[in-house]
Amino acid sequence: MRYFLGLDISTTGSKALLMDATGTVAGVAVSPHTLQTPKPLWSEQDPHEWWQAATSCIRRVLAESGVSGSDVAAVGLTGQMHGLVLLDAQGEVLRPAILWNDQRTQAQCDEIHRRLGREHFIQVTGNVALTGFTAPKILWVKENEPDLYARAAQVLLPKDYVRYRLTGAYAMDKADGAGTVLLDLRARDWSDEVLAALEIPRAWMPPLYEGPEITSTLTPAAAAVTGLLAGTPVMAGGGDQAAQAVGVGAVEPGVVALTVGTSGVVFATTPTALIEPQGRLHAFCHAVPGLWHFMGVMLSAAGSLQWYRDTLAPQMSFTELLEEAVSIPSGSEGLQFLPYLSGERTPHPDPLARGAWVGLTLRHNRAHLTRALLEGVSFGLKDSFTLIKEAGLGQIRQVRASGGGTKGALWRQILASVLETELVTVNTTEGAAYGAALLAAVGAGQWPDVPTACAAAIQITGKVEPDPAQVEVYINTYPIYRGLYPALRATFATM
Ligand code: XUL
Repeated sequence: MRYFLGLDISTTGSKALLMDATGTVAGVAVSPHTLQTPKPLWSEQDPHEWWQAATSCIRRVLAESGVSGSDVAAVGLTGQMHGLVLLDAQGEVLRPAILWNDQRTQAQCDEIHRRLGREHFIQVTGNVALTGFTAPKILWVKENEPDLYARAAQVLLPKDYVRYRLTGAYAMDKADGAGTVLLDLRARDWSDEVLAALEIPRAWMPPLYEGPEITSTLTPAAAAVTGLLAGTPVMAGGGDQAAQAVGVGAVEPGVVALTVGTSGVVFATTPTALIEPQGRLHAFCHAVPGLWHFMGVMLSAAGSLQWYRDTLAPQMSFTELLEEAVSIPSGSEGLQFLPYLSGERTPHPDPLARGAWVGLTLRHNRAHLTRALLEGVSFGLKDSFTLIKEAGLGQIRQVRASGGGTKGALWRQILASVLETELVTVNTTEGAAYGAALLAAVGAGQWPDVPTACAAAIQITGKVEPDPAQVEVYINTYPIYRGLYPALRATFATM
């Protein structure tokens, strides 16, 4: 049997997943990462720690599943997006990586918009400059650590540092590359104009590859520490969101991947480089060759429910809390919840936005609070759907839901009715690592292309249709939700 290894360098840990040639998962091993927050707003990790964790979980997954390294036909990479890894000319790490959730770069984002013009920057890269993205981080290092910047010679993203240690080659996939906001989105290549305006040498940026393409092969030194064979091909893979979409089979327009984890992600494949003119959606390359995608990110989705349970009902299980809310009528008898507990990205890129229940009366009890929270998060996700439809994608035929928030039947039903779309669950639950393994398998010729691989390996396990009576209630209450953020924005800012 041939096996394919998906390797996910996430924020919380490195995960190695072995998939066999039928698409069945043969084993998974995880090694944790630590996170440093040396100053308020900062979020950093040591790239050497990723390498230690990656090699350790590869060795463990081989040992625990009894698969020989010589049976692994290819490796696919995925990982947290946007993190800045800076190397010197000898390939040595110059400083801790600045991660996707680091918030120190607002001044640099403003500077990028000033230099290129906000509208023009959106037209070229598909995105506004956000603090999480890579380009403003490079400017921050230049301004704040000039001695170190003077020694810089190479820019990588987190998983591509691990690729470099595995293969000795600098390379990046186009999906993750787009998240640097240094790409010409339509050309699927680095933008000379943006690089020049930001004074970033093109030589610092690695060559870009489509998701299933081979970037390089394993070195003897990496083979010795992982248990894989020297010469094993390493495929480009994709940033975690694109690989996650591959892992649930969201690889064609009309099929949207919805992840309701701590954060909420709406991922919609686009046939061309569609752009939301105000940059309110992220627009990146897909890990599927020749396709693009829109993405909306809600910062506190199931994270809102987690906070609520931990803070207001710590003695209750999630199941108990949700069961109580089943008996409350749709619309929560006029109660609304705003999920901006960590500020927001889509559709309101506002770090100062706050959470709220609005419309409380004496009639409302805990079950109302719970139900309003589920509905408010669902409305916030609908905001991304609305933007995606308005930006020209047209009909959304199916939502493929994953993540902890979609485990309960009540929330799945509310989501289907709020989004007015069939909501399905699939048999694959390993997310981005599984998508990376599928991309590796396609690159190794196991399947001819990504959609064929997804059709062979991914099955639908459950389906929820919108409930017509509920849909009517939500059509009437969604506009109230939509009005609340604009009404409260200035107040939030003064808080
Ligand atoms: C995507 C994003 C996060 C990171 C963390 O834009 O910022 O999903 O990739 O995993």
